[in-house]
Amino acid sequence: MIPNGTLELTADPSGIAQAADLLRQGLLVAFATETVYGLGGDARNGEAVASIYAAKGRPSFNPLIAHVDSIESAQRYVEWSDPAEALAAAFWPGPLTMVLPLRDGHGISPLVTAGLDTLAVRVPAHGTARALLSSLDGPVAAPSANPSGQISPTTAEHVRAGLDGRIAAILDDGPCGVGLESTIVGLAGEPSLLRPGGVALEQIESILHAQLHVHQAGDLLTAPGQLQSHYAPDAPVRLNATNAQGDEVLLGFGSVACDLNLSEKGELTEAAANLFSALHTLNTTGRPIAVTPIPDHGLGAAINDRLRRAAAPRDS
Ligand code: TXA
Ligand code: MG
Repeated sequence: MIPNGTLELTADPSGIAQAADLLRQGLLVAFATETVYGLGGDARNGEAVASIYAAKGRPSFNPLIAHVDSIESAQRYVEWSDPAEALAAAFWPGPLTMVLPLRDGHGISPLVTAGLDTLAVRVPAHGTARALLSSLDGPVAAPSANPSGQISPTTAEHVRAGLDGRIAAILDDGPCGVGLESTIVGLAGEPSLLRPGGVALEQIESILHAQLHVHQAGDLLTAPGQLQSHYAPDAPVRLNATNAQGDEVLLGFGSVACDLNLSEKGELTEAAANLFSALHTLNTTGRPIAVTPIPDHGLGAAINDRLRRAAAPRDS
């Protein structure tokens, strides 16, 4: 536990400077990014990274994303390549993470990569996140700021609900715009989609002029969010529902009658931004959750991936 509780910092220059100081001391700070709130620790400091796993209760084989403020910063830690350059030019800063070979002398704690010889890196688009990274002048390892296996946080209140007293501070900067985690592309071997997310697969393939190998459950566990049951609310989740049965609350998409709608206009971007906070809200009802069908193209693929994990059989 943090002796004086978790500090709430405002996203102004003094709050950002204070957050960077806490990171420098090896403490943990949750911060807003455009995707979800991240739980940050200095990626070069093994103890800081270990305390991320501890605060989340995360299985230690699941490696973390290193957040940096620019392409130049990323190049200090990973071996750059033409596809990396093309994707960075198109989507950085933004909700894209690239997995690349670690560079000699990288200085990243092996706890960040869980012993792999590759590193997941991303330059977030969020102004406050980048100001924090620049102020630290170093890489920040940050998983989503929620206890392991639970719903990802898209507001500071979500972070506090899950991690209050377990981290030094929360840098509050309102709700996250994208609302879904970054897309993860593996570029250490054949280009592959390791996790669908905030940048659609189709957009990435059009930049690389190639089709990506799409990770399937059952592939080797080198990658993201592979635990089947993940993003799980307390109550059971049922997908592709046409209506609520029994005690269920119905989460809808488009023009359907339901208890809560991800996007009445049927827009996938709006639905993505609302997804996790909708799950948080429905979770507080304590009732089982049914979800109407969501188209599987563009951001819909990422939304459905998260929902399938929320609906998967639980480990315990
Ligand atoms: O939008 C996001 O990506 C958010 C914000 C905070 O940036 N972060 C996030 O982190 O979603 P996390 O830890 O919840 O998910 C990172 C995923 C994990 O599933 C992990 O397995 C994968 O990235 N990953 C990390 N390093 C990897 C590597 N070297 N090779 C393959 N997968 C890796
Ligand atoms: Mg997560």
